[in-house]
Amino acid sequence: MLPLLKIGNLSLKNHLIMAPMAGITNPPFRLIAKRLGAGLVVTEMVSAVGLSRNHEKTLRYLKGDPEEKPLSVQIFGAEPQIMAIAAETAIERGADMVDINMGCPARKVVKNGSGGGLLRNPAAVQKMVTAVRKACTVPLTVKIRAGWSAGEANFREIAGIIADCGADAVTVHPRFVNQGFSGHADWRIIKEIKEKLSIPVIGNGDVFKPELALQMRAETGCDGVMIGRGALGNPWIFRQILDLEKGLEAHPPELSERKEVILSHFTHLSQIIGEDRASKLMRGQLLWYTKGLPHSSRFRGAFTGIRDVHTMMATLGRYFETLMENQENVRR
Ligand SMILES: Cc1cc2nc3c(=O)[nH]c(=O)nc-3n(C[C@H](O)[C@H](O)[C@H](O)COP(=O)(O)O)c2cc1C
Repeated sequence: MLPLLKIGNLSLKNHLIMAPMAGITNPPFRLIAKRLGAGLVVTEMVSAVGLSRNHEKTLRYLKGDPEEKPLSVQIFGAEPQIMAIAAETAIERGADMVDINMGCPARKVVKNGSGGGLLRNPAAVQKMVTAVRKACTVPLTVKIRAGWSAGEANFREIAGIIADCGADAVTVHPRFVNQGFSGHADWRIIKEIKEKLSIPVIGNGDVFKPELALQMRAETGCDGVMIGRGALGNPWIFRQILDLEKGLEAHPPELSERKEVILSHFTHLSQIIGEDRASKLMRGQLLWYTKGLPHSSRFRGAFTGIRDVHTMMATLGRYFETLMENQENVRR
């Protein structure tokens, strides 16, 4: 039986979660992840100050497609009361779940005492979760790292506070804040937190291949698996994991499906942020989507310098047509 995940009163269709990623988990990408099997998608981190002041630009982050639902909105900030108002605003605008960011290592975030900076201050964590819990009428989750540094590995204390203050689940990315993304995620920390808490624990970190999601669950006993970088260029990872869990093989997508998904990603992104910005954002995505495909470096070379969307799409179309023709010839 496939593992299910219930967070607060919300039953997800499965235990796989697309990680919040700034600049990446916008509505088009979230929709793709959802359609390809993710049980829950999360917005990129949204400024609580911006939300509490109803800044038009910040509010845009809350927009989503109904098909993405349930949608979790991740907020970051340092002031408990502002975070509480931000949670209310997110809920008014349709959030089905609220997540507090306690892991972001970016300097401009931690220097204000928000994101990963909160982990250095357990009393602030307690105030924050208590205030947001009070304001939050939907399930509340908190995403943490293992602590500020190896010398301040206070994940046991922090996870305990979060559960005691009434959060419905905790996500653990077991790196220290000062590590950024270096080293590796120490899954033993996920296991330790899972053994300590009675609320669901979601494991996160270094699931780059579908097999690793099953390995993480087996090694840690975590209730859910959150995937970030492993879904870049391979949002099919969710379907692949679900297939493995059903005892099937995990297949990569056919070229035709890969092409369709890239095109729809780009088209949807252009519709919401305009062609100019979409083509800039898609450049990075295309590198991931085509990684490992035949002649992909030549294709990427051809891509550099192209600005207008139509030429971009035509170049992409030609590249995939050639790949598909070659594949046909090999099959014949
Ligand atoms: C480009 C990028 C942007 C990210 N943005 C966020 C964010 O907005 N909020 C957050 O909690 N984590 C963010 N993360 C961290 C991921 O959610 C995740 O915890 C981390 O990448 C580890 O998981 P992974 O090994 O599956 O990628 C980001 C990571 C990357 C690489």
